[in-house]
Amino acid sequence: MTEVERRIMAQSPKTEDSSPATALDGTALGNEAYVSAKVFDLEVRKIFRATWMLAGFAHEVPDAGDILPATIGGIPMILVRGRDGEIRAFHNVCIHRGMPLADKPCRKQAFITCPYHLWSYDLEGRVRSRPHFFGGGQHDISENGRDDVRLEAIRCDSWYDLVFVNLDGRAEPLADFLSPLADRLSHYDLNSLNWSHDVDYDIASNWKLIAENHIDALHIFGVHPALNKFADQATRPCTEAFGQLFFGCYSFSDPEEGRGLGMPHFPGLSAKASQEAPWFYLFPNVMGQIYPDQLLIIQLIPESYERTRERLQFYFVGDAAHDDAFEEGRRQAFKTFTDVLAEDIPVCEALQRGRASEGFTGGVLSPFWDKATFELAERVRERLG
Ligand code: FES
Ligand SMILES: [Fe+2]
Repeated sequence: MTEVERRIMAQSPKTEDSSPATALDGTALGNEAYVSAKVFDLEVRKIFRATWMLAGFAHEVPDAGDILPATIGGIPMILVRGRDGEIRAFHNVCIHRGMPLADKPCRKQAFITCPYHLWSYDLEGRVRSRPHFFGGGQHDISENGRDDVRLEAIRCDSWYDLVFVNLDGRAEPLADFLSPLADRLSHYDLNSLNWSHDVDYDIASNWKLIAENHIDALHIFGVHPALNKFADQATRPCTEAFGQLFFGCYSFSDPEEGRGLGMPHFPGLSAKASQEAPWFYLFPNVMGQIYPDQLLIIQLIPESYERTRERLQFYFVGDAAHDDAFEEGRRQAFKTFTDVLAEDIPVCEALQRGRASEGFTGGVLSPFWDKATFELAERVRERLG
């Protein structure tokens, strides 16, 4: 028996002085972790600000001067593509009087211009012009921008199409954060992928319930009849935890439309890997699924303790992302996955309602299937203390 299995099996009874966010050894998180604005504020400070968060996608800012507003835990920011091709992140607030700089995506801007008193900043955040700054008609213009007066930058780095930010600037290098995932996906040529399309959901659920459902490999037979037919519950492995990475991989005998049939596969994939479907969750806000012909990335945007935006991005191999010949294949892949989500979202919203019940105190877990859920609770407990 592993240490995690032992702790799950030895669940201790609830005590009065249990930490409110977290509670018990051997259980998942108690109700307060899902229904408390106070806990959510703590998560913003101690989790979202302190690690790498997926903030947006490079394809959303394809050209110099493209500006994309984004939020993480309610903190507004902008992603900006510079003339040098780099994507930078800034707090979405003007340093003059605190006006938000952009409330919708903008294309090919020469400058970032505040809508209030029209200060403008270059694409690297340096203030360039401050109209009437010294009095009527007396402008402050710096043709090359002023290094000493600039927007507040946020640490930002990219991995393929995914743009990450680290608000407190103290997380490990992005490559280190990603390496447990990148290593497990090394046989997929991610350079062969092209972005195809996206879809957004607004879900009445705490972000952790959506993540927990994604790593809950036990609910397939109860919630997803078509997926269970594709690969039966009895043949499925559980999700394993590796620090901040949660990873699992199931096998299927025959690909079907939407899952590996009719669309080009990743180049050089072995016969075995052509019948595998890894899924992953990179704590706290990146989830994903791979089939031999596609990658799905799911970005969680926690907006409050009871609301989460879920943004789903589809990527296909090579021309399949855009070629008319593959339109039906893309449609089928979209339908296949959104059908699964249509089964998952009501579950996540019901789980949120279930957290209002005093009859639940963190769960009675399966030592096989719920290890990942327990480990996710541990990641939260470690950070919130
Ligand atoms: S608040 Fe932005 S220019 Fe004044
Ligand atoms: Fe599901």
